[in-house]
Amino acid sequence: MNKTIEQMQNRASVRSFDPNKKLSPEILEAILKAAQQSPTSVSGQQYSVIVIEDEAQKDKMLEFTTFSGGRTQPHVKDCSAFLLFVIDYHKTDFIVKKENTSLGISNSLEGLLVGSVDVGISLEAATVAAESLGLGTVCIGAVRQATEKIIAEFKLPALTFPIVGLCIGYPLENTKLAPKPRLPFHTFAHKHHYQLENFDLVLEQYNKDLSKFMENPEFKWTATITSYYHNMYNTHLLELYKKQGFDIR
Ligand SMILES: Cc1cc2nc3c(=O)[nH]c(=O)nc-3n(C[C@H](O)[C@H](O)[C@H](O)COP(=O)(O)O)c2cc1C
Repeated sequence: MNKTIEQMQNRASVRSFDPNKKLSPEILEAILKAAQQSPTSVSGQQYSVIVIEDEAQKDKMLEFTTFSGGRTQPHVKDCSAFLLFVIDYHKTDFIVKKENTSLGISNSLEGLLVGSVDVGISLEAATVAAESLGLGTVCIGAVRQATEKIIAEFKLPALTFPIVGLCIGYPLENTKLAPKPRLPFHTFAHKHHYQLENFDLVLEQYNKDLSKFMENPEFKWTATITSYYHNMYNTHLLELYKKQGFDIR
């Protein structure tokens, strides 16, 4: 179709980066400017990015994103740049105060959704830009397990909240880059109205497809997803969100 769509339809997360390669300042700026130009609710720009390239700071981030069982995420250290995407009503608060009133939106679920969507769109823009330059990327949601430490380490002020990270780097030469299969298209794109038929059979086939893709006969996608989602996790977030000045009700 065209190069952009081809790139987006064939993308895959990369977790093996050449630790010796840095991004040139021009490349980093191009990615960040693409991310900044993403659509933003009411043009309010309730997002910020902390750019982490320094080895000591990446070491910290590696520690913060290590899973509770001790499994580390070496890609966090080996990437060339780690971008931390933050919901940012700190700037909005300044603006609203200058207009002699106070901020209300940050105390609502709508405010959280607006900020999260702005951050998500900007994250994807950075991803597409980086991949268009032959770089690899992987999003890092594990930052949310260490929200409090991250807020302290990166000096995030009141009315900001870290949501997700993005590793950007040069893929190692032997990195497997096949796109991971998704559920059948009709379960995602519903024509005219929502419809989900024979989902049982769809899942049976998808489990087989993913197991083959992962080259692991034991792998069962539905079991993996269930192991994540049968419980709540990161339940500390509401308290921390309030502590950051979001009086959510
Ligand atoms: C918000 C978000 C958070 C993620 N967090 C992590 C993470 O902490 N560590 C990781 O290795 N991958 C993480 N991923 C990558 C997903 O595992 C990956 O996108 C998914 O398995 C689909 O594979 P693909 O990106 O290769 O298509 C995250 C992805 C998203 C969108």
